Amino acid sequence: MLTKEQNELLTLIEGDAPMGQLMRENYWFPFALASQLVPGDAPFMVRLVGRNYIALRAPDGRIGFFDENCPHRGASLALARVEQGGNLRCIFHAWEFDIEGNATDCPTEPPERAAAFCSRVKLARYPVHEAGGLVWVWLGSGEAPAFPDLPFVGTLEKNTFLTVSLGQCNWLQGVEGTLDSAHIGTLHKTWISGIADRNKGNIGMSLDGPPQYDSDLTDYGLRAAALRPLTGGKTYARITEYMMPFICLAPSNGTRGREGVIFIIAPVDDEHHLMFFGLYSDREKQDPVAAAIQPEGGRFDRFNYAPLPGGREDRWGQDRALMKAGHFTGFGNNILEEDMVVQASMGPIVDRTREFLSATDIAIVQTRRMLLAALEGLAAGDLPPGSARRSEPVVMPGPIDVVVEAGSSWKGVAGLPVPA
Ligand SMILES: [Fe+2]
Repeated sequence: MLTKEQNELLTLIEGDAPMGQLMRENYWFPFALASQLVPGDAPFMVRLVGRNYIALRAPDGRIGFFDENCPHRGASLALARVEQGGNLRCIFHAWEFDIEGNATDCPTEPPERAAAFCSRVKLARYPVHEAGGLVWVWLGSGEAPAFPDLPFVGTLEKNTFLTVSLGQCNWLQGVEGTLDSAHIGTLHKTWISGIADRNKGNIGMSLDGPPQYDSDLTDYGLRAAALRPLTGGKTYARITEYMMPFICLAPSNGTRGREGVIFIIAPVDDEHHLMFFGLYSDREKQDPVAAAIQPEGGRFDRFNYAPLPGGREDRWGQDRALMKAGHFTGFGNNILEEDMVVQASMGPIVDRTREFLSATDIAIVQTRRMLLAALEGLAAGDLPPGSARRSEPVVMPGPIDVVVEAGSSWKGVAGLPVPA
């Protein structure tokens, strides 16, 4: 349970809110799947941390990411024409900008003064970075720092499957949902039993008995383990990695450090987030978890993967007939839909002064403490865990699930070098 002030500090990000400042000044934000930016398409509309932007890709592949409003009189450049070379032309007075944000034509000035005038006009442009099938932006001040080392970026990208959905609630509800392993066996019961059926004989996804939870702070964020006893004193450990403030990687199944489920929660404003959800792997769709996320012959839109099927007035579109027929939740479109619905059902910003936490919420509690401590450190000039501004490179390990030998701790196996 938190105080009202703590809940506001953690959740509010718009305007001058400290959490929004902490995020902008320390972390790269994903804003689109790379495949959403197509040369010649209309400007791609982006909203992050309560501010509006547009992005577009030029024919040569370069990406421009700009403030949404024309520097002239503020008309939205989402309405702009896309011209030769990916230049943007505002439809209000036909000012034109190139992909670097330079004004190249200001027809409201007399021809003899236009060139000098244009050279003084600047459309605010932000550094972008393509990695892991996503496009990321640096919204902080100064030069963009190095992009962190993330386990799904690089050689494993070829088998990555990624989607994006609009979450109808505050970013922290999205993050806390991914750190809460305890809900997997209940909320996702129907999906998990389908995965288990396809997965007979594999120790992974064993859900016998309630797990114990344990978590550890790291220099990038937090590592959380769900522990289940096996015979002979051994333990089955599923270790989820969280990089502050919004990247969460969960083990898939027998992950060997080379695959995992991706959840990245990019804050849109106080009451919305973008949920980037998917799977990275070194094998091609052999994994039953991959089959559940990317169903064979299933209908899904990667750019709008888990829209809410309804609102509060119609019980969020829940299918009670499906429920009567044996589905645990009555949300049968995909596994993420269940998460998006329960998180939205808590309200746009859940009231954490009224919650009643339980033993399995330990990672959530530790994460909140870490975030509050980071905000406190902000005033003193401390860099938060995982900050891209740190002088040493930020490295996030991949999630793993492993059998821990009797007498050993899961902490000893976490972060093992990736097997070849
Ligand atoms: Fe979930």
